[in-house]
This record gives sequence, C-alpha cells and structure tokens, in this order.
Amino acid sequence: MTALAQPASLHFDNPSVPTNLNEIALDEVLDSLDPLRHFKNDNSDFAEQNDEDTVVIPSQPRSTLGEMIRLSFPADSPVVSISLKVDASPGCGGITWPAGEVLSNYITYRGIGYLRGKNIVELGSGTGLVGLVAGALGGTVWITDQAPLLDIMHQNVMLNNLQSRVSVCELNWGEKLPLEIPPPELILAADCVYFEPAFPLLVQTLSDIAQSSTEILFCYKKRRKADKRFFTMLKKKFTWKEVEDDPDREFYNRKAISLLTLTKRP
Ligand SMILES: C[S@@+](CC[C@H](N)C(=O)[O-])C[C@H]1O[C@@H](n2cnc3c(N)ncnc32)[C@H](O)[C@@H]1O
Repeated sequence: MTALAQPASLHFDNPSVPTNLNEIALDEVLDSLDPLRHFKNDNSDFAEQNDEDTVVIPSQPRSTLGEMIRLSFPADSPVVSISLKVDASPGCGGITWPAGEVLSNYITYRGIGYLRGKNIVELGSGTGLVGLVAGALGGTVWITDQAPLLDIMHQNVMLNNLQSRVSVCELNWGEKLPLEIPPPELILAADCVYFEPAFPLLVQTLSDIAQSSTEILFCYKKRRKADKRFFTMLKKKFTWKEVEDDPDREFYNRKAISLLTLTKRP
C-alpha cells in the first residue's frame, strides 16, 4: 500500500511567507507564524508506528488530556519507576519527550551514589520526569518551568511521594533566579532547544546558575538547521562534549538525540 505523504508545509500558500528565503531564514519566518510547528511535524520519535509502508493517513498532533503513565528506568530491569500525570493543555511541557527519557535513563545508569546528597536543578522540567527520577535516586532537586506547568509538576511530585526531595519552582529563562534555589552541583535540561526566541534566554539562565565547576547534563534533540544558532550563542559562555559512557548512546544518536555535558567557561 502506498503511504500518503505527510502534509507538506503550507507556506507555499501563505502570502506572509516570502518565497526567496534560504532554509534557516524560512525556518525563522515559519516559527514566528507557528512556534510549536517542529513538534507537530516531528514524527521521528514514532518511527515504529509510522513505518512508510504501513501508514495510510497522516499522523495527528498529540492530544493528551489528563492521562496517567508510568515510566521505568532502565525499562528492562527497573531501578526507578515514576508515575506521571501528562496533559498537553498547559503546553508542550505537559507531556514527556524522548530526550527527557534518555536523560532519566542515563542518570539512573550512573547510579544512586552519583546523585545522593547533591543539589540539583532541572530547567524546563515540563512534567518533572527527569527531576523526579533524580529525586528518587537520592538527589535534592528543584524542578523548574513556567507558571502554566507548575500545577502538573506539583501533582507529579505528590503522586510519587517525593515531597521531601523534590521542590517545584517557577523559573522563566532570562529572568532573575529565584532566591530559594541554592547554587546547584548538577543542572539537568532535556529538550529545551526548540523555540528560537528562547535561545538567548536559556543561555543566560545557564550562565547565571552555573559556575565553572557545575556539572550540566544537557540532552538535546536536533530538529532543524536553525538549532545551530543556539550552539553559536552557547559557545560564547560554555564548552561541551558528548557523554561517552552511556551504553544506549548509539541507539538514541540514530534518532538525532545527543547527550552533552556543558562546562561554563571561567
Ligand atoms: C519540549 S518541553 C521538554 C519538557 C521536559 N524537559 C521533557 O524532556 O519531557 C520544553 C520545556 O521547556 C519549557 N520552557 C520553554 N520556554 C521556557 C522559558 N522561557 N522559561 C522556562 N521554561 C521554558 C517549556 O514550558 C517545556 O516544559
């Protein structure tokens, strides 16, 4: 059976999009018209479901509302299991993303001794998944995001009975750091590179919160060429290298996901 093509970008029919743009400039114009379009068009995480030979209709954007899920790490012989309320209505952070699962899996792989007793801040936590895993592994964690996500984050802390280890805090990138967050020894961030106007804000917050001794685990899914602008900005304040000791690295690299450690320049 022939697969129907995914709907092509409709920009050819859109009079507000100039026709003579290069790829990155075109990305920018389309982003300003629909900031979350990368997620809507991103089917690469669901490759198994979208096998070219079997798909007969274009896939739909997710419409998760108030579902409960349970994720375990590692999946085959769980050390940590987290229950999560997921709900797309407060924004893209209300559901989980593959980079968050990759980062959760990696910190579990590093083991309890790695996180126990550490002050940890997660940026752009969404549901709180990564920070909850870090709390379950013994860290003292602040999960942070924008106001619309705070309620679901609170609910997920309670669901997992992690109130003594995981605190919820509003942190808008680029704004002043909340006083209640102490300088962290470890910063976690998963799937936070997707909206170009937020690139300089995220770099600013990383720079405000980190010192050159702070470990930063940054898991990133490449979706488009313009993402490299984030790394051009990041380069001014940070260096980075790929995490090499993750046994699953080859698998997620194939899905355009990279796990990096960032170091703030002195
Ligand atoms: C794609 S979601 C990733 C959520 C989660 N880390 C995961 O991997 O499942 C990106 C997250 O970044 C947050 N975010 C985006 N812009 C932000 C900003 N300016 N300040 C703080 N958080 C922001 C969103 O609210 C969202 O929760």
